[in-house]
Amino acid sequence: MHKVGFWGCGNLAKIIAEKLSDGTVTGYQIVGAYDIDPDAAGKLSQICGSKACGSMDELIELMPEYIIEEVSPVVLKKEAFRIIRRGINLIVLSCGAMADDSFASRLAEYAEKSKAKVYLASGAIGGFDIMGAARLMGNLKASVINEKSPEALNGAPYLKGRLLDKEKEELLFYGTAREAIDFFPQNLNVAVAAATATSGVDNTSVCLKSVPGMALNTHIIELEGNFGNASLKISSYPSANNAKSSEIAAWSVLYILWKLRRSIVFY
Ligand SMILES: NC(=O)c1ccc[n+]([C@@H]2O[C@H](COP(=O)([O-])OP(=O)(O)OC[C@H]3O[C@@H](n4cnc5c(N)ncnc54)[C@H](O)[C@@H]3O)[C@@H](O)[C@H]2O)c1
Repeated sequence: MHKVGFWGCGNLAKIIAEKLSDGTVTGYQIVGAYDIDPDAAGKLSQICGSKACGSMDELIELMPEYIIEEVSPVVLKKEAFRIIRRGINLIVLSCGAMADDSFASRLAEYAEKSKAKVYLASGAIGGFDIMGAARLMGNLKASVINEKSPEALNGAPYLKGRLLDKEKEELLFYGTAREAIDFFPQNLNVAVAAATATSGVDNTSVCLKSVPGMALNTHIIELEGNFGNASLKISSYPSANNAKSSEIAAWSVLYILWKLRRSIVFY
């Protein structure tokens, strides 16, 4: 059994823990779960019979082979180095942190030294295979369009407390992926992930719309380069307990864990 630890015990962590515990993905034992909210860590630990940790140090001391991050880009940036320095592999959901160049390069440096791997989960989108191949072929330009319900966007720093109209569609933001994640840290991890894999956070445009009545979160990624062009559209259901997150994001972590145990996999 491979030992895993949870860093963050909220909505997505719960789905992952349930599916590791009910045998949907086998071969992993959840040894510990840490959340700044001890109640959340306690509840998650009950699902999977793991230790509820009171600190990151306690989680690290259990020496899991993988720590799954489901916290936030800001928290990830503060604490990721400690995990990687100990040679523990990190599975990341808050990919928005990768917009910070100095964080990304330091993380790579530490990982190189400790031989730990950082796995960026595909989250609520996909197509990283074609993005990667197209990037290698050169001249790649990417843009991302995101459409979400006002309920999924309310509370974002960009809105400064303003509540979005429940009836009227609104073009909320147009800018680069780097700007986008600061304004919408809980909504636009996907934009940074797509940008990081393609034309970079300063050269990938992001458009975000608030669309009342939308039952699904929709992401459209347009690619154009030496390879030709591609249009990827992913519409996914928000997770039941957090309209800002898509449930498929939790399953993308389960898919990483599933792949890690297979000899023949798609890359
Ligand atoms: N890459 C993607 O496509 C994608 C998709 C959906 C969500 N996400 C990201 O995944 C992360 C988790 O999403 P979620 O829906 O589970 O969020 P959530 O709010 O339900 O859970 C986050 C948990 O982190 C805990 N937390 C906050 N600060 C902490 C700290 N300093 N130390 C330890 N724990 C702390 C909270 O108490 C909470 O339990 C978010 O960053 C979200 O933006 C990424």
